[in-house]
Amino acid sequence: RIAYVNGQYVPHKDAAVHVEDRGYQFADGVYEVCEVWRNTIVDMPGHIDRLDRSLKELSIGWPMARSALEFVLREVVRRNRVHDGIVYIQVTRGVSRRDHFFPGEDVVPSVVVTARATSPRAGDAAAEKGISVITYPENRWPRVDIKTVALLPNVLAKQAAKEQGSKEAWYFDCENNVTEGGSTNAWIVTKDGTLVTRPAESGILRGITRAVVLELVEREGISFEERPFSVEEAKEAREAFVTAASTLVMPVVKIDDTILGNGHPGSVATRLRELFHTATD
Ligand code: PDD
Repeated sequence: RIAYVNGQYVPHKDAAVHVEDRGYQFADGVYEVCEVWRNTIVDMPGHIDRLDRSLKELSIGWPMARSALEFVLREVVRRNRVHDGIVYIQVTRGVSRRDHFFPGEDVVPSVVVTARATSPRAGDAAAEKGISVITYPENRWPRVDIKTVALLPNVLAKQAAKEQGSKEAWYFDCENNVTEGGSTNAWIVTKDGTLVTRPAESGILRGITRAVVLELVEREGISFEERPFSVEEAKEAREAFVTAASTLVMPVVKIDDTILGNGHPGSVATRLRELFHTATD
């Protein structure tokens, strides 16, 4: 396997950044995960736009021209012969003697790109059964709109889920409303058949998969509301699902101890998963 590290393609086993990289010491960096399907990076412009936004929000400079980064992503996918899988991009503020203040202009951002052949579409088998989620009190900073590598709160939430036999943790805020999953956006279908997801204005990352699903929902004329929903409403829902580049549309069949509907993936989630596959084929 090959990784790209600061201008060089290196064997994955030797790929390393400096001990004084600010990503390592301060989690001072941002990332993206994109799906690779049939040698193509799915929604690459959307992911690069969001990377650009994350970088700007943190005043981290662009490490290279956008077109150069796009080339590197494709090249890492190609060199690893990843036909279906994921590609990971990380940009940190760079290497500098440990000091909280931003380093001087001379310090350049660090860039790492890796790829692996773990296809999110291999989750089709899991999607036929659906996953369970736990609810978990929001433990993150308010700027969850920035895709930073500071993922310790998410790690703790997801580990708690795993220890309870679940795949994902759904965060709830101080008003008992679901925000999103530890690494996914959250959706429900209410008893009367309305699809609901929280607006991207607050409390969540503006998911690229979420945006594609919203387009499909509009195209298909599925009844839909973008509004906050509570943990109670979610537990009474007919169905639920999560979205992310790493899981695509994944049905949720259980929230904490509550089984949704008949305990099988719902028709809306199943249909949207198929539609997503076809749309990005
Ligand atoms: N996670 N919300 C959070 C907190 C996320 O970390 C992610 C993605 C999403 C979904 O975004 P998108 O549809 O653009 O993948 C929502 C990635 C996959 C990860 O951390 O592995």
